[in-house]
Parts: sequence; structure tokens; C-alpha cells
Amino acid sequence: MKELTPYLLLTHIKVNGNPFMKSPAIEIKNLTKTYRASKKSPAKLALKGVDLTIPRGSIFGLLGPNGAGKSTMINILAGLVVKSAGSAKICGYDIDTQTRQARASIGVVPQEISMDVFFSPYQALENQAGYYGVPKSERRSD
Ligand SMILES: Nc1ncnc2c1ncn2[C@@H]1O[C@H](COP(=O)(O)OP(=O)(O)OP(=O)(O)O)[C@@H](O)[C@H]1O
Ligand SMILES: [Mg+2]
Repeated sequence: MKELTPYLLLTHIKVNGNPFMKSPAIEIKNLTKTYRASKKSPAKLALKGVDLTIPRGSIFGLLGPNGAGKSTMINILAGLVVKSAGSAKICGYDIDTQTRQARASIGVVPQEISMDVFFSPYQALENQAGYYGVPKSERRSD
């Protein structure tokens, strides 16, 4: 077994005026993911009914052996992988029904470099801002 890969999940916490203030940072129920079979490999059950609640204000490390499903879980929360079943909320926002708010409430720092090396830092920020629909007047890229 390779060394375990620690992950740190940091969520943005809005304290004032948020109707979901009392909700946990992360609330996962029966989260299940089966990757579809391909020509090369059979279907893979990566997450099997995971229940997990992470309170606000906490620092939480998600540890597990290679292939345990850590990345799958984080990618579902970040909207990068489509779950097969179950539900997940980030700061009280459901990733299915309140997708924009849920995404705005989480930040993921990837393990590997995932930037386009041909972009300048300015271009990279502008590009991301575009994806997230941040109006130009609200951007502070320079
Ligand atoms: N896109 C994919 N298609 C098919 N199977 C996948 C895909 N991504 C991951 N898997 C499989 O799902 C299981 C969980 O993988 P995942 O990457 O979530 O584990 P992990 O805990 O992050 O592992 P590691 O510690 O190596 O990063 C593994 O068996 C993996 O091979
Ligand atoms: Mg991983």
C-alpha cells in the first residue's frame, strides 16, 4: 500500500445573515457512486452509502488507502463527479437543488498541479471567474 493521502476540506463559512447558519459544513447521506463499465474495465462501486457530517468550524482530515473513494467523494462535493445515489449539502446548500450556492461555499485545492501552464496568473483568474459567472466589475484579478 502506498502512503495514505491526507485531504483537508475547507469550507467557506458565512456567519452573518445566513439562514443556514446552524447547518453543518458538510452533510452527506447515503452517498453512492458507481463508475460505469468501459471496454477496458468493469463497473466500479467507489462509494457505498457513505454517511458523514462535518460540523462548522472544524478541521477535518479524510484518510483512507488508495482507491478508498476519497477523491470521488470530494469531487462529488465540488461538482466534478456525478453521484449515483444519496445526497450532500455544503453549508446547508443541497448540491442537486442549490448547486450554485453549494459550489460557492466550497473551495478545493487539488493534490496535483491543475493549472493550464500556458495561462498567465491573470488569465487563469479571469478564466475561472468566467466559469463561476463573476461579473467583470466584481473581479479583482490584477
Ligand atoms: N473515472 C473513473 N472511472 C472508473 N473508476 C474510477 C474512476 N475514478 C476512480 N475510479 C475507481 O474508484 C475507486 C475510488 O477511487 P478514488 O480515486 O476515489 O480513490 P482515492 O481514495 O482518492 O485513492 P488515492 O488515495 O489513490 O487518491 C478506485 O477503485 C478507482 O480505481
Ligand atoms: Mg485520490
